[in-house]
Amino acid sequence: MSRTPDIVEFRDPERPGLRDALARPLHDLRISLLDRCNYRCPYCMPESEYHADYQFLRKSQRLTHDEIHAVARAAVRLGVSKLRLTGGEPLLDKNLPSLVSRLAALPGVEDLALTTNAQLLAPIAKTLADSGLHRITVSLDSLDHEVFRRMSGGRGDLAKVLDGIAAAEAAGLAPVKINTVVQHGVNEHTVLDLLEHFRGSGHIVRLIEFMDVGNRNGWRMDQVVPSRELLAAIDARWPVEAVGRNYAGEVARRYVYRDGQGEIGFISSVTEPFCGGCSRARLSAEGVLYTCLFATHGTNLREPLREGATDEELEDILRRIWLQRADRYSELRRPEAADAHAPHKVEMYRIGG
Ligand code: GTP
Ligand code: 5AD
Ligand code: SF4
Ligand code: SF4
Repeated sequence: MSRTPDIVEFRDPERPGLRDALARPLHDLRISLLDRCNYRCPYCMPESEYHADYQFLRKSQRLTHDEIHAVARAAVRLGVSKLRLTGGEPLLDKNLPSLVSRLAALPGVEDLALTTNAQLLAPIAKTLADSGLHRITVSLDSLDHEVFRRMSGGRGDLAKVLDGIAAAEAAGLAPVKINTVVQHGVNEHTVLDLLEHFRGSGHIVRLIEFMDVGNRNGWRMDQVVPSRELLAAIDARWPVEAVGRNYAGEVARRYVYRDGQGEIGFISSVTEPFCGGCSRARLSAEGVLYTCLFATHGTNLREPLREGATDEELEDILRRIWLQRADRYSELRRPEAADAHAPHKVEMYRIGG
């Protein structure tokens, strides 16, 4: 196995313009469409907390598609070229295709992606592709039926997810990426089987370290499987080599199988933080803009939007937020004291990971 050295990537001469307090550009806007989900993954929305009586956002509290479009327009004018739609589960939004087509038509949007658990994907994949969606990332933690069921909070149907992945591929939503959160003692033992299944398929599996995001998922350091351990196990089975990043600020470290059977990625926010290249802003379903996944507060954009802010005013608000930004949570926190460090972090399902 080999590794590429870290590179200082955020000074991209081809992208002058807006920089935050640590000289990072604004490149990527992640848009959470709604806070609801049809799964209850214990590491994200444990059933004990998110039960039948839990009060999710009402429709009137969520941004409308017009409002989301207005924020995206402002972000794109400030240099964002990558949009990702997330949730909760974004496919629960029945009007998703029309939003996709409006966002895809924004000049300057080079990459429009969707993160989903794929349970509802198969029937709509082609419509999404026809509407202008570029690609899909599917959250899938195990191919072992029992482990998968447990990790989806008893809600997931593995056959439907695999159908969804096949439909995405058929619709040209490529490359399909598979996001797998790995937890010690939960699904770690099924990772090699999952990789074997997708080897040679053209789909890219990314193994994600269980993160201390939010405060409700019972995160413990001893449940994190460091990427370096997984890498060693994978390399022993199928030798791999590191390849460079696809774009500045890419979250995953990429490896390819030496036998040509494809690519895998590691997202190692706990053991190898990557804040130095972080160019992502996150818009929650209720219209709060966060500049870090681990933020404890953000800026309410819904209010100015509903008070009739013009495009220029919105752009100005975003510019000010970005200029002040100095977040680098993962680099600063000591993993063993994560909760003590920030007791009121926003929950993952509210800002879509
Ligand atoms: P690509 O655009 O395909 O490179 O995907 P992406 O990695 O930008 O997006 P995706 O939604 O697939 O993110 C994968 C996972 O990486 C997320 O679910 C998070 O767990 C994690 N992640 C993404 N961005 C950040 C970040 O800025 N900080 C941290 N700590 N984790 C992140
Ligand atoms: N740690 C790591 N990844 C997480 N995700 C959700 N919660 C966590 C967590 N605590 C992942 C999901 C999905 C993406 C949006 O975020 O599995 O792939
Ligand atoms: Fe839903 Fe994704 Fe959270 Fe699982 S990780 S509960 S699929 S939003
Ligand atoms: Fe970006 Fe915050 Fe993640 Fe660091 S911890 S990479 S600043 S979102």
